[in-house]
Amino acid sequence: MAIVYLNGEYLPADEARVSVLDRGFVFADGVYEVIPAYGGRLLRLEQHLQRLDNSLAGIRLANPLDRLQWGQVLEEIVKRNSENNGDLSIYLQVTRGAAKRDHVFPDEVKQTVFVMATPMSPVPDEQLENGIAAISHDDIRWRYCHIKSIALLPNTLMRQVAREAGAAEAILYRDDQVTEGAASNVFIVHNGRIITPRKDECLLPGITRDLILEIAADNGLDCEEADISMQMLREADEIWVTSSTKEILPVTHLDGQAVGNGKPGPVWRDMLDRYQQYKDKLRQGIAQ
Ligand code: PDD
Repeated sequence: MAIVYLNGEYLPADEARVSVLDRGFVFADGVYEVIPAYGGRLLRLEQHLQRLDNSLAGIRLANPLDRLQWGQVLEEIVKRNSENNGDLSIYLQVTRGAAKRDHVFPDEVKQTVFVMATPMSPVPDEQLENGIAAISHDDIRWRYCHIKSIALLPNTLMRQVAREAGAAEAILYRDDQVTEGAASNVFIVHNGRIITPRKDECLLPGITRDLILEIAADNGLDCEEADISMQMLREADEIWVTSSTKEILPVTHLDGQAVGNGKPGPVWRDMLDRYQQYKDKLRQGIAQ
């Protein structure tokens, strides 16, 4: 049985209980993080905790734990769920806690803190060999998409539209500009240059995204943060979607049309190799 952390306690998942008045349940009033752990080591912990701080500040909720305490809780959850030594995906969530239902914040807040670990399933070989299909979708979300809010209904609706179209992800656009995926960031390769949208309030500042930019800069690859119009997306030689759980996936069909030659591209292959090398270093404790 998976062991979870809830408000100071470690306990089996089926024994963890949260109040029905929790504002996370009633208002989706909370934020979250997803952190991969490879060989028991958390990827980019500092960056994830910094983004958590930013998300909490964005919804005006105090962080109930300091960096040291977060580090201890997350390490402990990794340890307690590592019996088969597989890679893990760590989910953490902080909500504004239980209170009488009222849109206005309660005077006294006792945050609910929840952490769980799930085995990280490797990306299927089929997706690495053939890539995935994606659809494009109008970005129907709110205007604070840089906050990693647990209010994910628009994202789940758009992912479901993708699923029903036989696709694995929805690539979102606002006013003809690509923002991100329903649960990922987006990169394109255009005339040999790797491009991803600039960070702003229209997209989540992905940790995987930033790591890819860092790897590109360290290796002198041609890479920039810039606007991507829908036309550029449709004319791209390669499209990738990136996230903590998907890593870097090549999109080989968009709205039923082949991307480039319809096969995963060479720039993606090279970047994925470099990303895997980075993970190997993390496993050996020589990267963070
Ligand atoms: N989601 N954009 C959105 C809307 C996301 O939900 C995610 C990740 C990303 C990529 O961020 P990162 O590289 O830090 O994982 C971008 C997680 C994995 C999820 O909701 O499960």
